[in-house]
Amino acid sequence: MSLILGIETSCDETGAAVFDTAAQKIVAHALFSQIELHKIYGGVVPEIASRSQLEKIDLIVQHALTQANCSINDIDALAVTNGPGLVGSLLVGLCFAKGIAWSLNKKIIGIDHLEGHIFSSLLLQDGSVNNTVPFPFISLSASGGHTMMHLVHGLGQYELIGQTLDDAAGEAFDKVAKVLGLGYPGGAAIERLAAAVGFQDFFAYPRTKTVANKIAFSFSGLKTAVLYDLVKRGAYDLTAGPNVAALTSELQQQVASSLLVCIGDIFAKQVKIAFKRYPQAKALTFAGGVACNNYLRAQLNDTCIRLGKKFIPTPPQFCTDNGAMIAFVGSYRAAQGLFSDLSVDVTR
Ligand code: KG4
Ligand code: ZN
Repeated sequence: MSLILGIETSCDETGAAVFDTAAQKIVAHALFSQIELHKIYGGVVPEIASRSQLEKIDLIVQHALTQANCSINDIDALAVTNGPGLVGSLLVGLCFAKGIAWSLNKKIIGIDHLEGHIFSSLLLQDGSVNNTVPFPFISLSASGGHTMMHLVHGLGQYELIGQTLDDAAGEAFDKVAKVLGLGYPGGAAIERLAAAVGFQDFFAYPRTKTVANKIAFSFSGLKTAVLYDLVKRGAYDLTAGPNVAALTSELQQQVASSLLVCIGDIFAKQVKIAFKRYPQAKALTFAGGVACNNYLRAQLNDTCIRLGKKFIPTPPQFCTDNGAMIAFVGSYRAAQGLFSDLSVDVTR
């Protein structure tokens, strides 16, 4: 096995990448993001997402092959996300990969999207594999769809140790951004506004109540608390939406900053609980779209320094959904002989 083509179409990104197993490196990485298509709706519209996947999949795969300076005939195996995600979007990548596997007699491997995020932290900025990440480690993975922690024992060996009880952290960023009239997705906009006021905690929003020694996240109450605080300030009306006269840029900054600091505190607290429960873990990795956030990266770095643990944030280009993490997981699955067959289906 030498070249693995990774295909990711679980939501609103079409990703393809090539991992060279001899060089142990991502040698091509192509991505199309549909953000512009969904912006006006304030969130991902599944039907639009799957149609766009269908339009872009062959272009993006061809782009990755060109970057890798190879043709589809040179590919040894196809690694493709088969869940979790939007079924219509997943089916585009999966059927595309199955078609190639069947017609060119290639191996195919169905890959769990969340395993992709967990192991994206082992990729360095230049696409090579970071061999200094010590096992076992704790992985914190946070995006618009999930917020979870795993204890990772080795390549492909991991156990879920905690997750959100309701919404994902990215959902909290996106929904608050919507209420503030900042558009979709909201995480980066919230970070920009918070940076302008020095990441101060103006409103002390409620932190998730935690049970001692139990790792769990909850962001639904926080989202509601922010909304009702804005209603109280006259900046938001539950039927009419944002009240631009009261929703000053100063208030937007204060809300954004307080939200980000609150989520930073929630993450840090759960990380502390996790290392207390699993003292054998040597490092913390941080992955998923929310891991692009520099404030959260700095907070978790400080937390790890205080605990005497290593902090390994994922390079931003591999935080959001991408084909590289799928190709990488495919590479070690292929090395273990763990292939799927053509009946591989969407998992969930
Ligand atoms: O991993 P991802 O691209 O897609 C999902 O699987 O959901 O994550 C998207 C999420 C969105 O909720 C977005 O607001 C959030 O990642 N995000 C951020 C930042 N950049 C993206 N959240 C906080 N700070 C950021 N800088
Ligand atoms: Zn994802």
